[in-house]
Amino acid sequence: MGIQSFEKQVQYQTLVNGEWKDSSTGRWISIVSPSTQQTVGEIPAMTAEEAEAAIQGAVKGQKKWADFPVHERGRILLAWADRLVENVEPIAEMIMKEVGKKKSAARDEVIRTADLIRYNVEEGKRLHGEMMKGDSFYGGNAKKMAVIEKEPLGVVLAISPFNYPVNLSAAKIAPALICGNAVVLKPATQGAISALMMVEALHQVGLPEGVLNVVTGKGSEIGDYLVTHRSIDFISFTGGTQTGTDIAKKAKMIPLVLELGGKDPAIVLEDADLDLAANQIVSGAFSYSGQRCTAIKRVLVMDQVADELVLKIKEKVSQLSVGLPEDNADITPLIDSASADFVHGLILDALWKGAKLVIGNQREGNLIAPSVLDGVTKEMRVAWEEPFGPVLPIIRVHSEEEAVELANESEYGLQASIFTKNLDKAFLLAAKLEVGSVQLNGRTERGPDHFPFLGVKNSGMGVQGVRRSIESMTRDKVVVLNL
Ligand code: G3P
Repeated sequence: MGIQSFEKQVQYQTLVNGEWKDSSTGRWISIVSPSTQQTVGEIPAMTAEEAEAAIQGAVKGQKKWADFPVHERGRILLAWADRLVENVEPIAEMIMKEVGKKKSAARDEVIRTADLIRYNVEEGKRLHGEMMKGDSFYGGNAKKMAVIEKEPLGVVLAISPFNYPVNLSAAKIAPALICGNAVVLKPATQGAISALMMVEALHQVGLPEGVLNVVTGKGSEIGDYLVTHRSIDFISFTGGTQTGTDIAKKAKMIPLVLELGGKDPAIVLEDADLDLAANQIVSGAFSYSGQRCTAIKRVLVMDQVADELVLKIKEKVSQLSVGLPEDNADITPLIDSASADFVHGLILDALWKGAKLVIGNQREGNLIAPSVLDGVTKEMRVAWEEPFGPVLPIIRVHSEEEAVELANESEYGLQASIFTKNLDKAFLLAAKLEVGSVQLNGRTERGPDHFPFLGVKNSGMGVQGVRRSIESMTRDKVVVLNL
């Protein structure tokens, strides 16, 4: 069954309490494709009053949803996964148009999301409680027994980013729903139509009303209302560090998980397989034009092998296609002109301060050629700031200690890659890195989606990954038997 509500639409309604609605204000937000500059469509500019209706509907829907047996919740979610796969083409087409992601990567995102949902169902069915006896302490009593079950938190506020509008929305929705929560989804504006198409698929397979409500609109108008609402029981946010820390301050007692920015280093030691390292670094740095929180955003390479590695990286980068997502180009226009200005500014700052341009630094509108800068020093902004674009600084180091020190000096701590043939040394270095995950001889990335995924310092708070996400959206309920 097709995503009927969205065939050749211009104005896309949001789902609130089982109904597709315009905004009561009659106001719309226009979404422009970053690659064609054509209007992709419009989404409702909802008000705080409409956000209130969505939240209250979720509160009501959640009480019924929590009473569904988990196998029934799972059946609906499995049907959702199948419906997404059936509609991979129109949804991928919309992702491509909205966020400028090449079609093959957009298609992969949808298929990956179906897998993610299915895995959530499997894990959700095995979320069991436990029983404890009371004789573990001096004077204890074996007749005192605790029966501990996992119960849903209630209403989860899911705030998702533009770069994975389907996968990173479902990565919050699926774990929340399988364990009995309801969800209020606030998608990024750019990517909201793709998210709504994903939600339409779930609505079509019978999700009860109110269990998932979508609120679209300007963060400046409804953001604070949502993140401070007394009926929101958990916040899962993916986006920029500034916004994330702002939410954390405002949310007060509302528990939250934050997936924020990064400045992931690739540390290349003198014994590394440099072909492997170059392949992984280029893939990690330039996939989706570097617009990934987990992108490789700096290379810390031992001086002895730096010249050879830079040549290999240059060769790989020169093979990347640059153009439109419609043509399945590797490097496509960035999400907006402000982002392109920021990235270009980092490149120019580094060149002005003496960095050597290896390749790139061409710009046409929001399209920036993949750029590699060698001889980057600590005085350059690109050594520290998160580009979220196709620029890769090469920093030459003279010891492993210097590499670790530079890696840890960043305000971010999401992931790191280490390239070496000596796994003993790799584990020793990994232990010293202030990050959530360390990839050995591979690019930094979140997937596979069941692995624990976390950032430290300004890269986030809490842990995601299927089981961790489910656990974070439940709490213990302890019933003590005094026999
Ligand atoms: O930027 C969001 C992050 O989740 C990227 O995912 O799997 O491409 O590293 P991945």
